[in-house]
Amino acid sequence: MRYPALSSSFYQKNRANFAKQMKSKGLAVFTSNDIYPSSADGTLPFKQLSDIFYLTGVDQEETMLVLFPEAHNPAHREILFVRETNEHIAIWEGAKLSKAQATERTGIASIYWSQDFEKILHTVIGEAACLYLNSNEHSRASIEVETREMRLSKHVRAKYPHHAVERSAPIMHALRAVKDKEEIDQIQRAIDLTNQGLRRVMGMLKPGVMEYQIEAEFAHEFLSNGSRGFAYTPIVASGRNACVLHYIENDHACADGDVILLDVGAEYGGYNADMTRCLPVSGKFTQRQKDVYNAVLRVMKGATAFLKPGVMLAEYHSAVGEMMTKELVDLKLISADEVKNQNPAWPAYKKYFMHGTSHFLGLDVHDVGNWNKPIEVGNVFTVEPGIYILEENLGIRLENNIVITENGNRDLFANFPLEVEEIEALMAGQQ
Ligand code: GLY
Ligand code: MN
Ligand code: MN
Repeated sequence: MRYPALSSSFYQKNRANFAKQMKSKGLAVFTSNDIYPSSADGTLPFKQLSDIFYLTGVDQEETMLVLFPEAHNPAHREILFVRETNEHIAIWEGAKLSKAQATERTGIASIYWSQDFEKILHTVIGEAACLYLNSNEHSRASIEVETREMRLSKHVRAKYPHHAVERSAPIMHALRAVKDKEEIDQIQRAIDLTNQGLRRVMGMLKPGVMEYQIEAEFAHEFLSNGSRGFAYTPIVASGRNACVLHYIENDHACADGDVILLDVGAEYGGYNADMTRCLPVSGKFTQRQKDVYNAVLRVMKGATAFLKPGVMLAEYHSAVGEMMTKELVDLKLISADEVKNQNPAWPAYKKYFMHGTSHFLGLDVHDVGNWNKPIEVGNVFTVEPGIYILEENLGIRLENNIVITENGNRDLFANFPLEVEEIEALMAGQQ
């Protein structure tokens, strides 16, 4: 493994918290993701399904977990299935967890090979009153393939049609939205690597550099420090490209006088950073670029100050909308009249700031969490306002990650360059 695993007690605690939310005699089944084929005999890199990772720490394909807290036999209360390994398989396929290693990683005593899943499930399922099945209920997920999780659910429901079915997803969303210290430490490592990458880029950015060369600098920094790479496809968007919200081609040369928007984050140990910074290609912002930058920065600071326990996300987003409206009027991008006559369903500020300000962050970049519940201590959010002015070939977004604390929040980007003067000084090699 490239990173030190979290303690098995962390995963034990997560399973215990899940078990507490289950109905009497419930039995839950979780699975890993498939390894997805590309073409010929190629495959995409394996990405573990976040829920089973959260409950076990196992980062391997063909992993299944059964939780049955009230099973008569204590050995059936937690059962983990992992892909078979032995010395021969290890030579051909690389090392997979042995049963002893699986116990050490997860704190689960009952370990079987994956091919025993059907048989073992059948021996215990008769004792269960209901089955907890999981599926991707992220509100923005758009899924066209049948996932391993959905195949498993279909199979279990068809084979045991008389068991009542419950959903694991709402429980997982509630648990995963509140981060433990160990998780925040992992997110902080991902953020620190992202900061190192950014500083590296500040030392090489100049007119003529290709956007993909900047991407390569980040990749080098991440991969040489134990990360498996980018948390998401990086956006390295100079000039006008910054106004394309999901620009990922990264194939233009950076031009003198342009600002480059970098929406890049490292992954570390399964957790993610999600950063956006904007840098002047020449090392100095023009007055107009500074004005827009500082407008976004004020909104970011105002938004961050608003995030504390008890606040509703809808209330927060409308407060940020008001902050942004004021800035856009001051920048003369929208008029007071437009604001007065705006459609409340699509306020005037949306012309220049058309995306949301925050999302949950964690094992997934757009992490799971309940948007209709008051903000809680331990939630981790991005704060990412932006102003995109296509007619000026200028897009500015700034994105930090914060954790909610008892008294408000803590900015996990405390060591990042943010102010205009700081960025210009760093790029001039003065710091
Ligand atoms: N990088 C994805 C996002 O900012 O939400
Ligand atoms: Mn981002
Ligand atoms: Mn984001």
